[in-house]
Amino acid sequence: MRRKLVVGNWKMNGSLASNASLLSGISEGLAGTTGSGAACAVCVPAPYLAQCQALLSGSQVGYGAQDVSCHAAGAFTGEVAASMLVDFACQYVIVGHSERRAMHAESSALVAKKALAALDAGLTPIACVGETLAEREAEQTYVVVRNQLEAVLALVGDRVAQIVVAYEPVWAIGTGKTATPEMAQEVHARLRAQIAEKNPVECSAVQILYGGSMKPDNAVELMAQPDIDGGLIGGAALKAADFLAIIRAGK
Ligand code: 13P
Repeated sequence: MRRKLVVGNWKMNGSLASNASLLSGISEGLAGTTGSGAACAVCVPAPYLAQCQALLSGSQVGYGAQDVSCHAAGAFTGEVAASMLVDFACQYVIVGHSERRAMHAESSALVAKKALAALDAGLTPIACVGETLAEREAEQTYVVVRNQLEAVLALVGDRVAQIVVAYEPVWAIGTGKTATPEMAQEVHARLRAQIAEKNPVECSAVQILYGGSMKPDNAVELMAQPDIDGGLIGGAALKAADFLAIIRAGK
C-alpha cells in the first residue's frame, strides 16, 4: 500500500518569524503520532531552506523547494541548482506548478528537464499537471494532463517510482472550488494508467497527489479515493491546525 503524502506549498509566503511559529506548530502537533496519518513535507521559498534545515532536521516533517533550474551551474542569474537544494538537505522539489507554467511560460519540455535535474541530484521531484477551466470545458482535460505527464515520463524513464505526480486542476487552485472526489479520482486513475503503459510494475508505487483547495473538510473524502495518495496544499498549509488536520485525514 502507498503511504499518503501531504505536502504544503507555501508559495511566496512567510518570514523567519512566521515560519518559526508555523513549523513549531506543525512539529508539536505531530509529536507522538509517528506512523498514524500521512507523511508530510513543506515546500518553502528558497531563502528559508536554511531555516528548515535548522528546525526540521531529524523531524517527521520533510521539506523542499518550489522550483529548480534544469541547469547544473553557470550564468543563469536568479536560478537555483538542484545541487544547491541538496546542500540544504532538501528531499523534495515542486516542478511545473501551474503558476510557473502560466506566469513564467514554463513548457512541459522544460518542466521535464527540471524533474530530471532533480532526480539526478537525488531529490524527489513533485511534477504538477492540470488543466485550465477553458480546457476542462472544451473536454481537453485528459489530453492536456496526458501531454504534460508524457514529457516528464519520457525523461525519467524507468526511475518513475522515484517521482511524485500532483494533479492540480488550475481552476481549483486558490478558488475554493475543488474537484469532486470522483472527478479527481478519474484523472488520477488515468494518470496511473498512463504510467502503467511503460512501467506496469512501478506504476502502483507512484504517489499521485491532488491539489486545489484541499482543506480539512474535504481531505478525508478526497484521500479515500483509491488513486489519490495525498495532497499538495496551498492556503491551508499556512495554518498549522489546518495542515495537521489534513495530515491526519491521510490515514
Ligand atoms: P490551494 O490549496 O490554495 O488551492 O493551492 C493549491 C496549490 O496550488 C498547491 O500547489
